[in-house]
Amino acid sequence: MRRRFWLVSAVLVASAAAAAGVWFITAPERFGSGEVDAVSDTGGDVEHGKLVFAAGDCASCHASPGQSDRLRLGGGLALASPYGSFRAPNISTDRIDGIGNWTAKDLANALLRGVSPDGSHYYPVFPYASFTHMRSEDVRDLMAYLRTLPAVKGRPPDHELNPLFGIRRFVGFWKVLYFEPGPIAPDAAHDEKWNRGRYLSEALAHCAECHSSRDMFGGIRSSTRYAGGQDPVGTGFYPNITAARLGDWSEAQLADMLKTGITPNHGRVGSSMADVVTNLAMLPESDRQAIAAFVKSLPTRPTPNP
Ligand code: HEC
Ligand code: HEC
Repeated sequence: MRRRFWLVSAVLVASAAAAAGVWFITAPERFGSGEVDAVSDTGGDVEHGKLVFAAGDCASCHASPGQSDRLRLGGGLALASPYGSFRAPNISTDRIDGIGNWTAKDLANALLRGVSPDGSHYYPVFPYASFTHMRSEDVRDLMAYLRTLPAVKGRPPDHELNPLFGIRRFVGFWKVLYFEPGPIAPDAAHDEKWNRGRYLSEALAHCAECHSSRDMFGGIRSSTRYAGGQDPVGTGFYPNITAARLGDWSEAQLADMLKTGITPNHGRVGSSMADVVTNLAMLPESDRQAIAAFVKSLPTRPTPNP
């Protein structure tokens, strides 16, 4: 009898500890410090924020579908994934349906930490695993710019996810495995142009979020970073952008494609890359050249098999 009691107690204590562990590990952290705290509501440079917005490709997901104004950020675009269908939210200045009530720090928590104002995790389909590397000044300027855009009424429908993935708290596990928050330190082994290119590619334009393949939990398989592969829903293929495929493109040809969409063999990029090009074309020439320099320096990686 006594032994049974101890056994049951031990099991209960162990389960409580495990539950506490899960609760602890999956807790959304806002790290109310460092880069997030450095983001303020004053002093934002609207003109520069416009470039940050273009480089981040925000309109490609958040512009209301079915109309041509890329600055009406009413959301609603459906994003298919193996976990169900996500909907891009309204990030216009509408105070009820959009983010018109947000502070710049709220935006910083979303982009740099993947955490919402009410303290829950965002799904990483919102590419904050890249945006987390943004500089505080860029987040501040981006907020100043977003505040100049029109308010759009209406909330898109909810995500339609497989029930297992409907629990936001579990994104905490994903973050433990794949999320490395914080800025990227400049690499002294490379020049300023390359470092600018890395910042634009890795923090803002999030090239690797598309041009890589993912494991069963939706994390980028590091051996395929920039090497492309099947898209997660299996309907398309992202090209390899390491030298394995781009080896005979010159840096100038790559920079040019990022502006015109035209490839050295006189083709034209389509699908989601066409939107990326529309946005990158707004950046100064030096920024596209910097991205090209960084991409051309990537180690050659073989294209993963589908
Ligand atoms: C690949 C598509 C995609 C891109 C690119 C993207 N987002 Fe999002 N974003 C989403 C999705 C999907 C969500 C919803 C995530 C969730 O519900 O967990 C989201 C959520 C957000 C939110 C939170 C909104 C809320 O109501 O809580 C903000 C703010 C936001 N994005 C801003 C941006 C900005 C600014 C950029 C560009 C720097 C950007 N996003 C780029 C897809 C995207
Ligand atoms: C939203 C997803 C997405 C993002 C972000 C993205 N790309 Fe692409 N990219 C694609 C797709 C899809 C294609 C294939 C387009 C086609 O089929 O015409 C492509 C094509 C390309 C090509 C042409 C490859 C070839 O062999 O023709 C290059 C080069 C390229 N991307 C570079 C980049 C760079 C550099 C970045 C970041 C600055 C980037 N991409 C960001 C989706 C993306």
